[in-house]
Formats: sequence, structure tokens, C-alpha cells
Amino acid sequence: MNHRMKKLFGGIVLCVFVSACANQSRQQSLYEALGQYEGINNITHQLILNIAKDERVKHRYKGVNMSKFKKGMSDYVCAVVEGPCTYGGDNMKLVHAGYNYTNTEFNAIVDDLILAMEQCGIPVPTQNRLLAKLAPTYKDVVYH
Ligand code: HEM
Repeated sequence: MNHRMKKLFGGIVLCVFVSACANQSRQQSLYEALGQYEGINNITHQLILNIAKDERVKHRYKGVNMSKFKKGMSDYVCAVVEGPCTYGGDNMKLVHAGYNYTNTEFNAIVDDLILAMEQCGIPVPTQNRLLAKLAPTYKDVVYH
């Protein structure tokens, strides 16, 4: 093989390799990337611990049944990422109605969720995929 041929061959091998990797990440569903229900449940668990330490929002959860919340949140996330779950609770508007939650509080919960995903070892691109799915919740949670 002359030098030109070697370069061309190397280029082809690289292309096949790169496109195989790109394909693989495109094929992995968000539900899979989060580690299925177990992974989502671990994130919710961490989220609750983070909320409990977060002075900005922890008072909002006083008296809330957190084991019910844990299941509701995990089921909701699982359903949002098109996992094999049904969220059996009320819709997001109804759940958050009447509390006048603010933009700042919404951002605090998002911070706590990002931290939870970080603690669970979720890669940043996967974190962003989930955040994009949850962003539309904003209009139902925040008072305006
Ligand atoms: C990304 C934004 C948010 C999402 C995806 C979300 C999602 C949920 C879900 C799925 C539940 C129901 C759990 C169940 O079925 O029991 C819930 C409940 C609740 N959320 Fe949110 N939430 C968000 C933002 C907020 C914010 C900003 C606050 C206030 C700081 C808040 C306060 C609450 C409280 C207090 C409950 C418990 C209600 C109860 O059981 O009495 N949420 N949330």
C-alpha cells in the first residue's frame, strides 16, 4: 500500500468507527441511558436528599409524604422519558396549583436534580436530554 492508499484506508476505518459510535448513542433511549427504572429511582432518592438540604426550597416539602413523592416522581420521570411506566398521580398543574412557586424555586429544584444526576454518575449529555424533557413542566409548576 502506498502512502496515499494508507491514508485513505485509515480515513475509512476512522469514519466507520466514528459512525458506529454515533449510531450507538443515537440508538440508546433516554430511559436506558438513565439506567432504567432503578437508575431513575436512584436519581429521585438523591434529589430528595438534596432538596432536604436546600434552604431555598426545603420548607416547601414540610409535611409531604416523601415515599409517595418518591414513587410519583420516579414514575413521572420514567413516563416522560418514554419508559414502560404510567404516572398515576394528578397532572403537574393540579399538583403544584395554589402554592405560587417562583421561578427561583423552580431553578433551585433543577439545580438539585442536576446535582443528583451528577452524584449518580449520569453523563452531561444525558443530563441535558432529561432537562429538555422536563423543561415544559415549568409552565405548569411556576405561578404566573
Ligand atoms: C422540574 C420541575 C418539577 C417537576 C418535574 C416536579 C414534579 C413533581 C411530581 C411528579 C410530583 C408528584 C409526586 C406524586 O405523585 O406524589 C410533585 C409533587 C410536589 N412538588 Fe414538584 N416538580 C417540580 C418543581 C417543583 C417546585 C419548583 C416545587 C416547589 C419548590 C415543587 C414542590 C412540590 C411539592 C411540595 C410536591 C408534593 C405535593 C404533595 O404530595 O402534597 N415542585 N412534583
